[in-house]
Amino acid sequence: MDESKSSKENEWEQLYQQGKTGWDRGEVSPNLSYWIESQQIPPCRILVPACGHGYEVLYLAEKGFDVIAVDIAPSAIHYLNKMLIEHALNATVIEANFFNWNPDKPVDAIYEQTSLCALAPENWEQYEQCLYRWLKPNGKLLAQFMQTNSEAGPPFHCDISTMLELFAKQRWQWSDEHETKIIHSAGKCEKVYLLEKK
Ligand SMILES: C[S@@+](CC[C@H](N)C(=O)[O-])C[C@H]1O[C@@H](n2cnc3c(N)ncnc32)[C@H](O)[C@@H]1O
Repeated sequence: MDESKSSKENEWEQLYQQGKTGWDRGEVSPNLSYWIESQQIPPCRILVPACGHGYEVLYLAEKGFDVIAVDIAPSAIHYLNKMLIEHALNATVIEANFFNWNPDKPVDAIYEQTSLCALAPENWEQYEQCLYRWLKPNGKLLAQFMQTNSEAGPPFHCDISTMLELFAKQRWQWSDEHETKIIHSAGKCEKVYLLEKK
């Protein structure tokens, strides 16, 4: 039995079962629609790690992307599969602890939304290694770094100086900061960048 999956799965699964999903926007993120509508990312094979209820997965599938979505919580996966059927859309939806998972071949792009900030900072290096490994060379990482200015989490504060060390310039080409900042409740916002795997 996969012990790491069972404890983490329970933690997140319980939040879904108790309806404690304060992160859930209930609709596609405007950052993603901006990236797609402005044609910065043409339809390709894209991974959405920690997809949650997966509004972005539905949106990307509708826009012609070949989407792979991963989440550890069975309730999130169940909801997303139901929505895909309701909307007659296709995506590959996988229930897994992404630390123990790999795509069958590297993907063209990854959409990162509230996945890094949901992880304890001691796991960030391992997560960066996963993102790097999952992507093709020159693959794109659509990154949104949560700003909370608090030590507590999740969500954990993804300070940009820490992100620049984590996503080091030897491995990642950084764009300028994207102007859009989504404001969340309690003053949280995300800083948005397009990173490219070198
Ligand atoms: C804060 S929620 C964000 C969900 C979604 N990205 C959104 O913005 O609505 C974090 C998600 O990460 C998932 N998760 C946490 N650790 C994970 C892991 N190790 N592997 C896969 N999914 C994980 C949780 O089940 C949860 O759905």
